[in-house]
Order: sequence, then C-alpha cells, then structure tokens
Amino acid sequence: MKFDTPAGQNHNDQLKVVGKPLDRIDGKFKTTGTAPYANDWHDPQAKLAYGSVVGATIAKGRIRSMDLAQAKAAPGVLAIVTAETAGTLGKAKLNTAKLLGGPRIEHYHQAVAVVVAETFEQARAAAALVRVAYDTDKGAFDLAAVKEEAKNPGDVMGSPPDTSVGDFAAAFGAATHNVDATYVTPDHAHAMMEPHASVASWDGDAVTVWTANQMIDWATDGLAQTLGMPKEKVRVISPFIGGGFGGKLFLRSDAILAALGARAARRPVKVALTRPLMFNNTTHRPATIQRIRIGAGPDGRMTAIGHESWSGDLPGGGPEAAVLQTRLLYAAPNRMTAMRLAELDLPEGNAMRAPGEAPGLMALEIAMDEMAEKVGMDPVRFRILNDTQVDPEKPERRFSQRSLVDCLRIGAERFGWDRRAAIPGQVRDGRWRVGLGVAAAFRNNMVLKSAARVRLDDRGRVTVETDMTDIGNGSYTIIAQTAAEMMGVPLDHVVVRLGDSTFPVSSGSGGQFGANSATSGVYAACVKLREAVAGRLGFNSADAVFADGQVRSGNRSAPLAQAAGTDGLIAEDAIEFGDLAKTHQQSTFGAHFVEVGVDAATAEIRVRRMLAVCAAGRILNPKTARSQVIGGMTMGVGGALMEELAVDTKRGYFVNHDLAGYEVPVHADIPHQDVIFLDETDPMSSPMKAKGVGELGICGVAAAVANAAYNATGIRVRQYPITLDKLLDRMPDVA
Ligand code: MOS
Repeated sequence: MKFDTPAGQNHNDQLKVVGKPLDRIDGKFKTTGTAPYANDWHDPQAKLAYGSVVGATIAKGRIRSMDLAQAKAAPGVLAIVTAETAGTLGKAKLNTAKLLGGPRIEHYHQAVAVVVAETFEQARAAAALVRVAYDTDKGAFDLAAVKEEAKNPGDVMGSPPDTSVGDFAAAFGAATHNVDATYVTPDHAHAMMEPHASVASWDGDAVTVWTANQMIDWATDGLAQTLGMPKEKVRVISPFIGGGFGGKLFLRSDAILAALGARAARRPVKVALTRPLMFNNTTHRPATIQRIRIGAGPDGRMTAIGHESWSGDLPGGGPEAAVLQTRLLYAAPNRMTAMRLAELDLPEGNAMRAPGEAPGLMALEIAMDEMAEKVGMDPVRFRILNDTQVDPEKPERRFSQRSLVDCLRIGAERFGWDRRAAIPGQVRDGRWRVGLGVAAAFRNNMVLKSAARVRLDDRGRVTVETDMTDIGNGSYTIIAQTAAEMMGVPLDHVVVRLGDSTFPVSSGSGGQFGANSATSGVYAACVKLREAVAGRLGFNSADAVFADGQVRSGNRSAPLAQAAGTDGLIAEDAIEFGDLAKTHQQSTFGAHFVEVGVDAATAEIRVRRMLAVCAAGRILNPKTARSQVIGGMTMGVGGALMEELAVDTKRGYFVNHDLAGYEVPVHADIPHQDVIFLDETDPMSSPMKAKGVGELGICGVAAAVANAAYNATGIRVRQYPITLDKLLDRMPDVA
C-alpha cells in the first residue's frame, strides 16, 4: 500500500481497540520471567558453549603479538577466534569500527578475541590469560582540544550540514537583546538494562543468531556482510529486548563473535557482553559543544538565531546532529546553523534516544530561557511569541500539525506555572530552594517502509508476523490492537509474532518511527486480508463491516472464521510512504515542566514534580505511550543531573564503565510524573494518523531541569550534567 495522500476515514477511526489504554499483551511473560531474552536461549539438544570477549586495552595502535598458549591450555577451552584466525571478514556497512579488531586497533575495548569454553566461568577465566602486546599510536580523545580542526561533515541524515537564511550576522549585531553562549553536553551511554547478548548456531553453511537487536533486517545484513555470506543463509531472532535506546540499532560484537565462535567450536555459542565492556565496546551518544546566538527586538520577537555544534567520531563516523531542531522550532527571519565533525579515537559515537534533538534541545532550551530573561518576558510567553506555523527556512512548507503553543499553554495551566517567581533564588521551602523550569519538546516524525503478514484461522484467530521488534516500547500490544480493530476481533484473538528475519521486513524500532510505521504495515496487510475474506464470502469488500468476529455486508452476515476455511487465509503487504513527509514538515511537539528543590546548604538538586504535554498525532495506546514518555522524562533527568561518560583524555577511553560509576536515575530520584497527550490525529503521517512519542519524551527535559535549577538558585550552568560541585561555590548565602 502506497501512502501518498492524506488518510481519510478508515477502520481504525472506530477506536474500539486502537487508542485504548490496554495492558501490554507481553506483560505477563516479562513479569513471570518467561520472556526469552537473547541470553536465555538454549537448545536442550545442542551442547551450548560460552564465548568471552577480550577487549583491547589501548585506544589506537596495532597488535604487536598475541600469546594464546596459556588460554588455549586452560580448562574447558574449545576455540579462540582472533582477527588472524577468523578468516576474511567484511565490515558491515552500518558499523564504523570493526567488530573484531586486529591487527589495527581503532578504539579501547574493541574486541580482539573471543575465547570459547564449555562453561561461562571457564571462558572468562581463559580470556583473562590471553596476552596481547600493543604498539600504541597517539590518538585524539578530547573534543575541546580538536574542535578547531573539525570539518564540514557533508550531509547529515539527508540534511545539509549548514543552513543560512537572511543575514544572521547583521541581524544579530543589530538586535536589542543578545544571547551568545556555549553549552557542553557530555558523552552518554545507553546503559539499557539488558546487555548485548547473542547465541549463534550453525547448520551447515547457514547460521541462526538469537540476539537483542532493534533492527532485524539491518542485523541480518550486517551479519551477512561481515561473514561474507548470502543473506538467505542468515537468520536473526530477537523477540524480546531489554531496552536499546539506539544502542542496539546496529550489529555489535556479541553477534559476530557468537557466530565466529560457534563456527570455530562447532557448537552453538553464547556471547554476552559484560557490563564493564559495554561502555567502550559498543556505541554511545557523542559529546557536543554548542554555541547558540539569539538576537531579539525590544518586543521580544527573535530577529536572529544561530546554532553551531561540534562533535567528534572515529574516522568514517558522523556528527551528532544537534542543530536540526533549531531549523524548525522558532521563527526568526535571519538564521544560521552549522555542524562540524572532528576525528576522535574514542569508541564509536552513534544514535541514542532522540539523536540530534536530545542534546540539541539541552542547549537551545537553556538559551531560550536566558533570552526570555533578557527581554524580561515569562519563558512560556516568550516561546509562544516566537512560534512559527511554517518551516522557518522554507516558509512555503507548513507543518502537518503543530501544537507547540497548546502544549505550552495547557502545561502552564496544569502545572501551576503562574506560581513561578520571575526573579530567581526567591522561593524557599525549608532547606530547599525551589524553582520551576520549562522547555519545549520537539522531535521529527520519521516514517519507514514496513511490511507484515496476517493469517486468519478457522477459529477466527488472527496471527500477525513482522520482523518488528519490541524493545520495551509496547510494539506487541499496539500491533495486536491494530489487527483486532481491523479484523473486528477481540484482542485475545490476535497472536503477534515479532523479531524474526523470516518474517516480512518492518521499520524496526528506532528514531520513534516504529509504532506508527509498523502498525501502518499491519494496517496494510489487514486491508488485504479483509479483501480476501470478503472475496471468499462473496461479499463486497468496500462495504463489508468487520465486528464482533462477524463480517456483515448488506443484510448478509457470516462468522469471520467461516471465511478462513480449514486452510486459513493469509495476506501480506507493506506500507510505503510517498512525498507527504516532503511537502509537509512532520514533527512531534511537547512542553516539559519541572519543579526542583536545591538544598540551600549542599546544592543537591532533587526533582520534585514533572509534567509533559505531548502532541504526537493519534496515541495508539495511552498506557504504553505514557510509559514511553515517563521513561524519556526519567532519562532526561539523568542527562540533566547525572549522566556523563568520563573521558580519559590521555589513554582514550570512558573511565566510568560500569553502573556504579555511570549514574542513571533510580526510583528514589524520580518524583510523580504527569503526562498529558493532546487529542489530535495527523492524517499526513500514516493511515494510523499516529506519530512517535518514545523520543519526544526525552527532548527538552534536561533543559527544563536546568532552567528550574536556575530559577531556584540564580546560577546558570551551561555544562551538563548539573552536579552540585558546579553550583556549590556560587550558591546564595544561607539565610
Ligand atoms: Mo533510536 S536512538 O533510533 O533507537
């Protein structure tokens, strides 16, 4: 099904099942521990062996020699695979560095060997006996130090690296009010609960890999490209994933090393990355340095906005696209944005939840707070005044939907924003200095082709198969809701099977495109199945009504199951998106409101209240969507107050590579969170009229926390995370 004209009325608009706050259909598997995660797979028939990964202990250089003798002689060892013994390996197109390094080492903890043994403990003990001697090269590890050498990266995700409208320099120079500030965001780790893990099993020249991956088709491609195999010989299975946040978008070393280890040991092999390996062996959100300049007239209208961002990556990598939202969020006739990319020899930088917008808004939305203060305007009003209904760089393009102003207004009212003191540092509640902060949320709405297969059986049950993944985001449930709505059956008559490369290729889960794209693919397949059902029953498919397990047409009616017959009926289709995303800017909007308390004596920051108002098209399931948004808000608090990969700028690695040193919020850090979804549909987006929310939830949160901390203390911190040491020596005197 080609989607190239705005959606009209369709079967989903009934909202009998779609749009309902239903519990997750996979919830019981997770809460009872019966959901098979990657590391849980084992074939009782096959004797599973275990692989332990050896990571490089230098950041850049070459392996001079490897001594495997002791490791080979260790108890239980079956095989050791290194770049030297692995045979010729290709490089997956979507990976920047090699997943099995050597002799050249590209980053710290790049895998240099996998040691396969009978038990996990034996593999781990033997891996510790691998001796590697390195010749170390000088690397670049400090973004600030190489910033001046950063280069124009070329197009970034289909967008130019630089944009310019009007005369930014002149308008900025002539403005009544100016903000010119530089903000720093650190490297972030995905730190998802489930570490990367894979089990690989060979059958002749074909391999099956049970893994944890957001994008089954990319993983299958990646394995085939790396192993130099035809794609048809690779099967990837990933039905349950314990969080990804972008860290599982691409093939990682666990999958490739499990496959190589299994080939060498002639046994199925399980490889899980240990937590201490995760931080330097996989990808991370790259640090940025962002300079933002805003000029405004005496009335508070912005006349100029400029946003430049610097980030670094390994040679061949890409930039953090931190300026993208600034091209679309606020009006101003004179504008410029630019992205620059420096070469760094740290582990690969890549997508993490709302890549681009999340760190971009961390900077932009503090700058907006600073500007509102300069013009003497309430920050909610200042944002509303500078709203735009068209793409500010291409005014002929409108937004398909844009409810930022409503999000801000409704949020301000619900949060009690009028109680905010305009002058910072004024409000006390016992030992706490209390402040309120706001930030706009913005995330683009991407759509990707997505296919599904649906089967109807003679009991009236519908089975959906698509290689879509559920990374904790609720895919199983919203796909079941879509099929139930389309076929007119109760939710418990729908079986959803995901995460298998033998199923039709879906959008996968990423970029908050999954919910809308994958359910649209299921919609397309169900339209075909409805036609097949109507055809079998001799009904006119155009006026057939599917409800309560029955199909009605005119005065005739038949059970759905009857149409299936004993063989069942099967239909497959894909949704393919046309030009609507080009003719109309499709984005999601929101507003985050945060109240913090800052300890008057110790400067400890505690988040006290949070509210998000989101405008993201039709919300397919308010319960799972709310979970996505509160997860994003929680992660945003981490970004504001805790998360930072500490870079050893001499040795070139992330020092705090465990969950003791890399801090993320826990329950005690997070107060009650409210989420409001605006009641909207976006017919430009898909037949589901939905959009993504999973990444919108994090966008702007950190800035809202930072702005609240400023409102509480009068101290502006432009370097994340806002830890108490950055406030302490500037705190107002304790009265
Ligand atoms: Mo997302 S960072 O594309 O999983």
